[in-house]
Amino acid sequence: MDTARAAESFRDLLLRHRGRTGLTQLELAGRVGAGRRTVQDWEAGINHPSAELLKALIQALVEAGGLTAEREAAEAHELWAAVLRDAPRMHTPFDELWLASLLRERAARSPAPDATAHHAGTIAPVASSAETGEERRQDWGDAPDVLGFVGRVDEQTRVRNWVLEQHCRVVGVLGIGGIGKTSIAAKLAKDVAPAFHRAYWRSLRNAPPVSEWLSGAIGFLSGQQLVAPRGEAARLAVLLELLRDRASLLVLDNFETLLEPRQREGGYREGFAGYGALLRAIGETFHQSCLVVTSREAPPELAVLSGHPVRTLDLGGLGVPEGQALLADKQLLGTAENWGNLIARFGGNGLALKLVGESIRQVFGGDIGAFLD
Ligand SMILES: Nc1ncnc2c1ncn2[C@@H]1O[C@H](COP(=O)(O)OP(=O)(O)OP(=O)(O)O)[C@@H](O)[C@H]1O
Ligand SMILES: [Mg+2]
Repeated sequence: MDTARAAESFRDLLLRHRGRTGLTQLELAGRVGAGRRTVQDWEAGINHPSAELLKALIQALVEAGGLTAEREAAEAHELWAAVLRDAPRMHTPFDELWLASLLRERAARSPAPDATAHHAGTIAPVASSAETGEERRQDWGDAPDVLGFVGRVDEQTRVRNWVLEQHCRVVGVLGIGGIGKTSIAAKLAKDVAPAFHRAYWRSLRNAPPVSEWLSGAIGFLSGQQLVAPRGEAARLAVLLELLRDRASLLVLDNFETLLEPRQREGGYREGFAGYGALLRAIGETFHQSCLVVTSREAPPELAVLSGHPVRTLDLGGLGVPEGQALLADKQLLGTAENWGNLIARFGGNGLALKLVGESIRQVFGGDIGAFLD
């Protein structure tokens, strides 16, 4: 794993380490003695720090808890090596004496660093509000419980990789009704949320106007520090600024509510085209956040955005062992063939299987074979 990390770009390392500090680009820039634009360009991979600014940056990260406790020296070396590798004009070797004195000074100032709040994993954990007394960082809206989630190991691995490794900006989860889109999106979001500064889940089932959703998201992502300006375009601009400043995870469940039904070309219902602009802006603009969208129909932007870090998971049905696990509480009886036939008949659809499983239990005394005959 360390070998894989050693090859990471400076930009990715910086995004991760700044994520751990919880500092905005502007705040970090202030501590480094650079402009906000400079930090933005580093994180966009457009530019790299000089040796002098890189020292200031590493110092700022050490002081703000952005490097892992006990691995600070190794991570400082990684950052330096990444700039040497990525920036053609950078040739200054790492200054061991400087780092040693920096770490000594830091140790003298804070003899017992808090190893739990900022250093618990390879991704930036966000301490819960109960632990820190800070304002809420995760708003799950009506996201379902994921305790009974079964299977989908390959799909989960793929989408986690898109979010955490490939830093995809939009991930679509598509599939027919009841197939399990909301379930896997909730599982994914809860798994990856610790890597984000904030997580915000909303269902669009009641078709809120986009300006209303934007207003809620701006309030939440800014820790209720910002009031949404007037107008959709202005709100979208503020949202993008927030997504650039801090890695945030957004989920829009039931996106199909906004789309004209059964239009292959995919059009928005009247008054909802603003959501298309939102998707496009989040997909096209540079930032460090991720939007997960679940939908029965593909939002047209997902196809248009190919070439950007945007991915789509087409969700198929559950497999036989997964379907059996899903229905474990119904205590059904049947041969392996019965189970295979039952799950195939309903296309591995989670909702359909749960409904029919309940009927088999009640009407057929749990006998799958009797139901199938
Ligand atoms: N992998 C799974 N593990 C456990 N339960 C699942 C799984 N997949 C689906 N289900 C169950 O199947 C039902 C339908 O799943 P879900 O609501 O996620 O489907 P959906 O694709 O979001 O449907 P819709 O299009 O109606 O929103 C739910 O009761 C859910 O709990
Ligand atoms: Mg759903």
